[in-house]
Amino acid sequence: MSAPVTIETKPASPPIEKIRIKVDGREIEVPKLMPDWQGKLQPTTMLQACALAGVEVPHYCYHPKLPVAGNCRMCLVEFGTPMIGPDRKPLLNEDGTPKIARSALPYEPTTPRGAIACATPISPGMEIYPGSPATKQMRESVLEFLLINHPLDCSICDQAGECKLQEYSVDYGQAASRFVEAKVHKPKAVDLGPRIVLDDERCILCSRCVRFTKDIVGDDALGFASRGSYNTLTHHPGRPFDNNYTLNTVDICPVGALTSKDFRFQMRVWFLKETKSICTSCGTGCNIVIGSREEKIFRYEPRQNDAVNACWMCDAGRLNYKWVGRPDRLTQVLSRKSGVLSPTTWTSALNEIAGKLKNAPAGSVAIVASARQTNEELWLLSKLKSKLGAISDSVPRAGEGDKLLVNADRNPNTNGARLTGIAAEPMGSNLPKIAEGIRNGGIRTLIVFGEDVTKNGIGADLLGKLETLVVSDILPNETTRLAHYLLPGCAHAEKRGTFTNVKGRVQKFMKAVEPPGDARPEWEFLHELVFNVTGQNGFVTIEGLFNQMAKEVPAFNGLTWAALGDTGVTAPI
Ligand code: SF4
Ligand code: SF4
Ligand code: FES
Repeated sequence: MSAPVTIETKPASPPIEKIRIKVDGREIEVPKLMPDWQGKLQPTTMLQACALAGVEVPHYCYHPKLPVAGNCRMCLVEFGTPMIGPDRKPLLNEDGTPKIARSALPYEPTTPRGAIACATPISPGMEIYPGSPATKQMRESVLEFLLINHPLDCSICDQAGECKLQEYSVDYGQAASRFVEAKVHKPKAVDLGPRIVLDDERCILCSRCVRFTKDIVGDDALGFASRGSYNTLTHHPGRPFDNNYTLNTVDICPVGALTSKDFRFQMRVWFLKETKSICTSCGTGCNIVIGSREEKIFRYEPRQNDAVNACWMCDAGRLNYKWVGRPDRLTQVLSRKSGVLSPTTWTSALNEIAGKLKNAPAGSVAIVASARQTNEELWLLSKLKSKLGAISDSVPRAGEGDKLLVNADRNPNTNGARLTGIAAEPMGSNLPKIAEGIRNGGIRTLIVFGEDVTKNGIGADLLGKLETLVVSDILPNETTRLAHYLLPGCAHAEKRGTFTNVKGRVQKFMKAVEPPGDARPEWEFLHELVFNVTGQNGFVTIEGLFNQMAKEVPAFNGLTWAALGDTGVTAPI
């Protein structure tokens, strides 16, 4: 295994020097240097310059977060450079404009010769012709070549709808094929590893998957075998393709060669609704897109955020979504009457809880929150804490981290719990005090959000001693079974809110699917409870709630919901 690459999390310094070039006759000024795949400044390429000019150069092997390979040739463009005389001075046309030498074959000066835009740096006065007949012809030829052995099975291919071969064939290809020979048949439905299936016939040998696995993950698992038409992607003999980042190769494979066992044949991609969200499986907070249809989640995909996860996410986080649609989700508001949990309404449950909290003697209430809750929910709990003089904490959750993305903190919002004042310092250190308080009778009311406290030192015997146990959760556990009031909450995919990741990045997520039954976003009913207990109001929208929180929590001062944008803002933590 070669050394893994650490993802650049700081934006590169802005390039200063600009140079003038022309793209299809339009003069533009572009930076001489631009960030490469590692964020280091390198000479700007023709592909980058065209993108700045708003002109797409089709490409397969190029990916902005991978080293350049230059092997697919799809980005070939015709170009020209200013001519220089024997005196090393620019040659000029009669009208004073510089004479341009268009790239051509040296032995056939009238035949244009392209250069690959992904690897060719620009130079002052250069002219790029992405729309010229010569460029068009080069693209048609490359596509014709790539399609020679391609099976053309779009109708049954999982990539249909997001396949670059399909799209470029429509945009830049030609209608007819001149190929009359038999196609080379390569292995189909190869079991590459526990999560990936490979269809070698569809592979265009762009090597994106090979470079990602080697240069980003540091795992030399993939490579090419055989030559010429028989050149085939394969994994290292006797070693399955199995690291925690394999599913990123499915995202970056421009065709349907690599497919995810979890998602393949589950849903046509054009039916999926896409919602911007955040992974909640560790403290990194990778930016994701949730693909859902008819209130069911079908997949998570990474969303680019160079300050957090570049374009990647881990397999464990990506596949951690099925619990959202579990059939045993808590869906009813329940209150305990004569020892039995029975259905009730949100209004009466919240009124009864508020009544009990208002009459609770100071120091007799404890709150165990969860660092899986949002900043807004934790802040509302902190309002209850202040009003009631309660002791509070939240539950730490640790795992093994890696050098790429996975953080050892498995809570998505440890910093939110700290900054809102709900978590003790260190987190979890108040849990034994709460247990002792219940044991000695000082604590008679316990509010628990999103945690099974019986697994964290507050056992069922102690919960049985409480006068009032208010629990909000998503899935059943020992604590929810013992609750006096059970308030069904929402998964992050069912509500809006913000998390603060391990580096202080405050990021918002949006609602993808409806919650089941009577379940409601926790911030909504916490707002009602806070109003009933403290009389404080004004937090009826998530935007207003966040903006108010940002005014009151010092680390969030100056932030607004709108200013968070899609990729968040880093708070001083
Ligand atoms: S499997 Fe996909 S990403 Fe890998 S080389 Fe083939 S086309 Fe490229
Ligand atoms: S690294 Fe963490 S936040 Fe990112 S996808 Fe994996 S579990 Fe989710
Ligand atoms: S994108 Fe493949 S050669 Fe440039």
